[in-house]
Amino acid sequence: MTIDASNSTNAVPTKTVVLGITGCIAAYKSAEIVRGLQKAGVRVKVVMTEHATHFVDPVTFRSLTHEKVAVGLFDDPSDPIHHISLAQEADVMLLAPCTANMLAKIANGIADDLLSTTVLATTAPLVIAPAMNVHMYENPATRYNIGKLQIRGVHFVEAGTGYLACGDIGKGRLADVEDIVSATLSMLGVKRDLAGKHVMITAGPTVEPIDPVRYITNRSSGKTGYAIARAAFARGADVTLISGPVALQAPEGVSMVYVQTADEMLAAAQEAFKSADIGIFAAAVADMKPARAADHKLKKGSDDDQLSGIELVENPDILETLAANKGSRVVVGFAAETDNVIENAQKKLISKHADVIVANQVGEGMAFGTDDNEVWFIDDEDTEGLPRMSKANLADAILSKSLEFLS
Ligand code: C5P
Repeated sequence: MTIDASNSTNAVPTKTVVLGITGCIAAYKSAEIVRGLQKAGVRVKVVMTEHATHFVDPVTFRSLTHEKVAVGLFDDPSDPIHHISLAQEADVMLLAPCTANMLAKIANGIADDLLSTTVLATTAPLVIAPAMNVHMYENPATRYNIGKLQIRGVHFVEAGTGYLACGDIGKGRLADVEDIVSATLSMLGVKRDLAGKHVMITAGPTVEPIDPVRYITNRSSGKTGYAIARAAFARGADVTLISGPVALQAPEGVSMVYVQTADEMLAAAQEAFKSADIGIFAAAVADMKPARAADHKLKKGSDDDQLSGIELVENPDILETLAANKGSRVVVGFAAETDNVIENAQKKLISKHADVIVANQVGEGMAFGTDDNEVWFIDDEDTEGLPRMSKANLADAILSKSLEFLS
């Protein structure tokens, strides 16, 4: 079993935040804001004021975002109306840190550099995290400008109180990166309803060795479990993904535990389940395993046939074993059936002590390896058929369903 808190991702970001950075000592914290948004699957494009570049080099943000960092109105000869293209690309525009000067310009509709011009040109919601000296923050001019912008629907992430770079103590520190990221994500419509929760997911197949060459397994791409892990992380959860061998990259920010056999998966799940609030058992665990795995390649053929009649024994049922003592944890199981889908899933709900069974029909090219699926949610009160949807949307639906059971 190997454990890896991975940072790689293969998710294609679907939302863009244009992050404006102004000339303030807190500008270095914008690097953390970029990472926080990226971890939630958001694409970030950075615009800096000339003054901001004195605090942090644009190269930092170019390296983090793999995008050009815009500073001047006429920097990009290939795009003479850069402020308009940036303004249109933004799903949300975030200014963090935002100086008193930039607040005043925006409040008055002044557009005399790339950032203020982009703000004026965008129709995207605007989130502002101010940072400045306490007296500048409390100055009636700044209070008036903030009030004006709030009336126009601008969302503020209020500055915090504490030690300021100038030596003063008071209000004016840039708000916590976490709060700025959360506010921006909620403006984008990304829910953070799993913040503080630990979600454990099993995914993919298990492989049960017959000998060093052969094994028994189940069909499974792991896509559903991986999509759930990605969605749970984006919604703020701590996520442990226990994965059998699949051809997928580890989702961003998720603690990975890689396993091969059902016994290894059970051991990893038992450990993770201890601190889990929600357990989602999406793995296609092999039902049987060879009683003994040979340490040499078994011979086939009539004289010395070692392959026929391999003795098989049952694997542990991971879901059933853990759910038997689930306490207040929410447990979600899956049922992939070729016949009598709902009836079989209802039986599994009871026999496996699950709160919900996600049931789907398999066979004839359905479900396995595809990017979408059509399922039913079965609990002890209801059977709900969901329309066909992408595995990413299904992941969100499964998490929302789980939350209904969380006390
Ligand atoms: O019995 P069946 O394999 O159809 O049950 C499916 C559900 O039980 C899935 O949620 C699967 O992850 C879980 N399961 C398990 N351990 C097994 C077999 C199934 O956790 N050995």
